[in-house]
Amino acid sequence: MRIAHISDIHCNYGTDFNKKIYEKAVKLLNKTDADIIFISGDITTDGLITEYEYAREKLKEIEGKLVIVSGNHDERNLGWKLFPEFFGETDFIHTYDEINLVGLASSEPDKDNGRLGRGRHKLIEQGIHKNDRMTVIGFHHHVIPVPNSGRETNIIDDAGETLDIILKNEVPLVLMGHRHVPWGVKIHKTLLVNSGTFSCNRTRAHFGNTFNIIDIEEEKITVTVIDIEKKKQKKMIEFDFEKGYCKNRYYDSKA
Ligand SMILES: [Fe+2]
Ligand SMILES: [Fe+2]
Repeated sequence: MRIAHISDIHCNYGTDFNKKIYEKAVKLLNKTDADIIFISGDITTDGLITEYEYAREKLKEIEGKLVIVSGNHDERNLGWKLFPEFFGETDFIHTYDEINLVGLASSEPDKDNGRLGRGRHKLIEQGIHKNDRMTVIGFHHHVIPVPNSGRETNIIDDAGETLDIILKNEVPLVLMGHRHVPWGVKIHKTLLVNSGTFSCNRTRAHFGNTFNIIDIEEEKITVTVIDIEKKKQKKMIEFDFEKGYCKNRYYDSKA
Protein backbone atom coordinates (compact mmCIF):
# COMPACT_ATOMS: atom_id res chain seq x y z
CA MET A 1 0.00 0.00 0.00
CA ARG A 2 1.18 3.48 -0.80
CA ILE A 3 0.17 6.59 1.16
CA ALA A 4 1.06 10.02 -0.17
CA HIS A 5 1.41 12.10 2.98
CA ILE A 6 1.02 15.81 2.28
CA SER A 7 0.53 18.69 4.68
CA ASP A 8 0.23 22.42 5.20
CA ILE A 9 -1.13 23.47 1.83
CA HIS A 10 -2.21 26.87 3.23
CA CYS A 11 -4.65 27.93 0.50
CA ASN A 12 -5.25 31.65 0.84
CA TYR A 13 -5.36 34.88 -1.14
CA GLY A 14 -2.50 36.46 0.80
CA THR A 15 1.18 35.61 0.88
CA ASP A 16 1.03 32.07 2.31
CA PHE A 17 -0.12 30.08 -0.72
CA ASN A 18 2.43 29.42 -3.47
CA LYS A 19 0.24 28.65 -6.46
CA LYS A 20 3.14 27.79 -8.77
CA ILE A 21 4.65 25.31 -6.34
CA TYR A 22 1.20 23.83 -5.76
CA GLU A 23 0.84 23.13 -9.46
CA LYS A 24 4.29 21.52 -9.63
CA ALA A 25 3.54 19.53 -6.51
CA VAL A 26 0.23 18.22 -7.83
CA LYS A 27 1.89 17.07 -11.06
CA LEU A 28 4.44 15.08 -9.04
CA LEU A 29 1.81 13.82 -6.64
CA ASN A 30 -0.47 12.60 -9.42
CA LYS A 31 2.35 10.45 -10.79
CA THR A 32 2.90 8.62 -7.49
CA ASP A 33 -0.12 6.35 -7.95
CA ALA A 34 -0.87 6.43 -4.22
CA ASP A 35 -3.75 4.40 -2.80
CA ILE A 36 -4.68 7.28 -0.53
CA ILE A 37 -3.54 10.85 -0.12
CA PHE A 38 -3.47 11.75 3.55
CA ILE A 39 -3.48 15.49 4.25
CA SER A 40 -2.38 16.31 7.78
CA GLY A 41 -4.05 19.72 8.10
CA ASP A 42 -3.58 23.43 7.45
CA ILE A 43 -5.50 23.27 4.22
CA THR A 44 -6.20 27.00 4.67
CA THR A 45 -4.40 29.83 6.44
CA ASP A 46 -7.12 31.67 8.35
CA GLY A 47 -10.04 29.25 8.23
CA LEU A 48 -12.08 31.74 6.17
CA ILE A 49 -14.96 30.58 4.01
CA THR A 50 -13.30 32.02 0.90
CA GLU A 51 -10.19 29.97 1.69
CA TYR A 52 -12.23 26.82 2.26
CA GLU A 53 -13.90 27.37 -1.12
CA TYR A 54 -10.55 27.97 -2.77
CA ALA A 55 -9.05 24.89 -1.13
CA ARG A 56 -11.95 22.72 -2.25
CA GLU A 57 -11.38 23.83 -5.85
CA LYS A 58 -7.61 23.34 -5.68
CA LEU A 59 -7.92 19.89 -4.11
CA LYS A 60 -9.96 18.77 -7.14
CA GLU A 61 -6.68 18.87 -9.11
CA ILE A 62 -5.37 15.98 -7.02
CA GLU A 63 -6.20 12.56 -8.42
CA GLY A 64 -7.01 9.81 -5.96
CA LYS A 65 -8.68 9.32 -2.64
CA LEU A 66 -8.16 12.22 -0.23
CA VAL A 67 -8.28 11.72 3.52
CA ILE A 68 -8.08 14.98 5.45
CA VAL A 69 -7.69 16.12 9.05
CA SER A 70 -7.85 19.74 10.17
CA GLY A 71 -4.94 21.91 11.30
CA ASN A 72 -4.73 24.85 13.67
CA HIS A 73 -5.04 27.31 10.79
CA ASP A 74 -8.24 25.61 9.56
CA GLU A 75 -9.87 26.16 12.94
CA ARG A 76 -9.29 29.91 13.10
CA ASN A 77 -12.19 32.36 12.77
CA LEU A 78 -14.83 29.68 13.35
CA GLY A 79 -13.27 27.63 10.58
CA TRP A 80 -13.76 24.56 12.78
CA LYS A 81 -17.47 24.82 11.89
CA LEU A 82 -16.67 24.94 8.18
CA PHE A 83 -14.28 21.99 8.10
CA PRO A 84 -16.98 19.28 8.37
CA GLU A 85 -19.12 21.09 5.77
CA PHE A 86 -16.28 21.08 3.28
CA PHE A 87 -14.23 18.00 4.08
CA GLY A 88 -16.41 15.72 6.18
CA GLU A 89 -15.88 14.08 9.55
CA THR A 90 -13.09 15.45 11.72
CA ASP A 91 -12.29 12.28 13.66
CA PHE A 92 -12.56 8.85 12.11
CA ILE A 93 -11.34 5.31 11.69
CA HIS A 94 -11.07 4.26 8.05
CA THR A 95 -10.37 0.65 7.22
CA TYR A 96 -8.43 -0.29 4.11
CA ASP A 97 -7.07 -3.65 2.94
CA GLU A 98 -3.89 -3.40 4.97
CA ILE A 99 -4.43 -0.67 7.58
CA ASN A 100 -6.81 1.06 9.93
CA LEU A 101 -6.25 4.78 9.59
CA VAL A 102 -7.26 6.78 12.66
CA GLY A 103 -7.60 10.46 11.72
CA LEU A 104 -7.88 13.01 14.51
CA ALA A 105 -8.50 16.75 14.82
CA SER A 106 -5.71 17.81 17.17
CA SER A 107 -6.47 21.55 17.02
CA GLU A 108 -8.29 23.79 19.44
CA PRO A 109 -10.11 26.73 17.80
CA ASP A 110 -8.04 29.93 17.71
CA LYS A 111 -5.02 28.33 19.34
CA ASP A 112 -1.83 27.22 17.68
CA ASN A 113 -1.07 24.38 20.01
CA GLY A 114 -3.07 21.18 20.00
CA ARG A 115 -4.69 18.63 22.24
CA LEU A 116 -6.24 15.23 21.60
CA GLY A 117 -8.11 14.60 24.84
CA ARG A 118 -9.64 11.44 26.27
CA GLY A 119 -12.28 11.03 23.56
CA ARG A 120 -9.67 10.87 20.83
CA HIS A 121 -7.44 8.65 22.91
CA LYS A 122 -10.39 6.24 23.06
CA LEU A 123 -10.73 6.43 19.28
CA ILE A 124 -7.05 5.53 18.92
CA GLU A 125 -7.63 2.45 21.10
CA GLN A 126 -10.73 1.54 19.11
CA GLY A 127 -8.72 1.71 15.90
CA ILE A 128 -6.00 -0.46 17.39
CA HIS A 129 -8.45 -3.14 18.54
CA LYS A 130 -10.83 -3.02 15.57
CA ASN A 131 -9.22 -5.92 13.70
CA ASP A 132 -5.79 -7.38 13.06
CA ARG A 133 -4.77 -4.79 10.50
CA MET A 134 -1.87 -2.48 11.13
CA THR A 135 -2.80 0.86 12.73
CA VAL A 136 -1.77 4.20 11.28
CA ILE A 137 -2.64 7.38 13.21
CA GLY A 138 -2.71 10.80 11.58
CA PHE A 139 -3.18 14.27 13.02
CA HIS A 140 -1.82 17.78 12.54
CA HIS A 141 0.36 18.53 15.56
CA HIS A 142 3.39 16.71 16.87
CA VAL A 143 3.94 14.57 19.97
CA ILE A 144 7.64 15.26 20.37
CA PRO A 145 9.62 18.38 19.38
CA VAL A 146 10.66 18.48 15.73
CA PRO A 147 14.25 19.54 14.93
CA ASN A 148 14.86 22.48 12.56
CA SER A 149 11.45 23.95 13.26
CA GLY A 150 12.08 26.66 15.82
CA ARG A 151 11.32 26.90 19.50
CA GLU A 152 8.81 24.44 20.85
CA THR A 153 5.46 26.03 21.69
CA ASN A 154 2.89 24.04 19.74
CA ILE A 155 3.23 20.43 20.83
CA ILE A 156 -0.06 18.82 21.93
CA ASP A 157 -0.92 19.43 25.60
CA ASP A 158 -1.37 15.73 26.26
CA ALA A 159 1.70 14.59 24.32
CA GLY A 160 2.88 12.32 27.16
CA GLU A 161 -0.41 10.46 27.45
CA THR A 162 -0.73 10.22 23.67
CA LEU A 163 2.79 8.89 23.28
CA ASP A 164 2.15 6.37 26.06
CA ILE A 165 -0.90 4.93 24.28
CA ILE A 166 0.94 4.80 20.97
CA LEU A 167 4.08 3.15 22.37
CA LYS A 168 2.28 0.71 24.67
CA ASN A 169 0.20 -0.51 21.76
CA GLU A 170 3.19 -0.63 19.41
CA VAL A 171 1.43 1.45 16.76
CA PRO A 172 3.89 1.25 13.85
CA LEU A 173 3.20 4.59 12.18
CA VAL A 174 2.06 8.11 13.16
CA LEU A 175 1.70 10.83 10.50
CA MET A 176 1.85 14.52 11.41
CA GLY A 177 2.49 17.95 9.90
CA HIS A 178 2.39 21.52 11.24
CA ARG A 179 6.12 22.26 11.52
CA HIS A 180 6.75 22.81 7.78
CA VAL A 181 9.79 20.51 7.75
CA PRO A 182 10.00 16.82 6.87
CA TRP A 183 11.26 14.54 9.63
CA GLY A 184 10.95 11.09 11.05
CA VAL A 185 12.26 9.08 13.97
CA LYS A 186 11.63 5.69 15.52
CA ILE A 187 10.81 5.54 19.22
CA HIS A 188 10.35 2.09 20.74
CA LYS A 189 8.37 0.31 18.00
CA THR A 190 6.75 3.39 16.48
CA LEU A 191 7.81 5.50 13.54
CA LEU A 192 6.84 9.16 14.01
CA VAL A 193 6.78 10.95 10.66
CA ASN A 194 6.26 14.63 9.84
CA SER A 195 5.49 15.89 6.37
CA GLY A 196 6.89 19.28 5.34
CA THR A 197 4.78 21.95 3.72
CA PHE A 198 3.32 21.16 0.30
CA SER A 199 2.71 24.68 -0.95
CA CYS A 200 3.19 27.32 1.74
CA ASN A 201 5.69 30.11 1.17
CA ARG A 202 6.71 29.81 4.81
CA THR A 203 9.40 27.20 4.31
CA ARG A 204 12.43 26.87 6.58
CA ALA A 205 16.02 27.51 5.41
CA HIS A 206 16.81 25.05 2.59
CA PHE A 207 14.05 22.54 3.31
CA GLY A 208 11.76 23.98 0.62
CA ASN A 209 8.37 22.47 -0.17
CA THR A 210 8.09 18.72 0.19
CA PHE A 211 5.75 15.78 0.65
CA ASN A 212 6.26 12.20 1.75
CA ILE A 213 5.57 8.90 0.08
CA ILE A 214 4.98 6.10 2.55
CA ASP A 215 5.17 2.56 1.21
CA ILE A 216 3.86 -0.23 3.41
CA GLU A 217 4.73 -3.75 2.32
CA GLU A 218 3.99 -6.51 4.78
CA GLU A 219 6.03 -5.53 7.85
CA LYS A 220 8.11 -2.86 6.17
CA ILE A 221 7.54 0.89 6.01
CA THR A 222 9.57 3.09 3.69
CA VAL A 223 9.42 6.88 3.84
CA THR A 224 10.56 8.85 0.79
CA VAL A 225 10.70 12.66 0.86
CA ILE A 226 9.92 14.41 -2.41
CA ASP A 227 11.53 17.82 -2.96
CA ILE A 228 9.00 19.62 -5.14
CA GLU A 229 11.14 22.42 -6.58
CA LYS A 230 14.13 20.17 -7.33
CA LYS A 231 11.90 17.28 -8.40
CA LYS A 232 14.16 14.99 -6.40
CA GLN A 233 13.32 12.16 -4.10
CA LYS A 234 15.27 10.80 -1.16
CA LYS A 235 14.51 7.57 0.62
CA MET A 236 14.76 8.73 4.25
CA ILE A 237 13.63 5.86 6.43
CA GLU A 238 13.28 2.11 6.12
CA PHE A 239 11.60 0.48 9.09
CA ASP A 240 10.88 -3.19 9.63
CA PHE A 241 8.40 -3.09 12.49
CA GLU A 242 8.42 -6.85 13.02
CA LYS A 243 12.18 -7.14 13.36
CA GLY A 244 12.59 -3.65 14.85
CA TYR A 245 15.24 -2.78 12.27
CA CYS A 246 15.27 0.89 11.25
CA LYS A 247 17.58 2.74 8.89
CA ASN A 248 17.13 6.49 9.18
CA ARG A 249 19.18 8.65 6.83
CA TYR A 250 18.71 11.65 9.11
CA TYR A 251 20.81 9.95 11.75
CA ASP A 252 22.56 6.91 10.35
CA SER A 253 25.38 8.60 8.50
CA LYS A 254 26.57 5.36 6.94
CA ALA A 255 23.10 4.45 5.70
FE1 LIG B 1 1.06 25.10 8.66
FE1 LIG C 1 -0.20 24.18 11.71
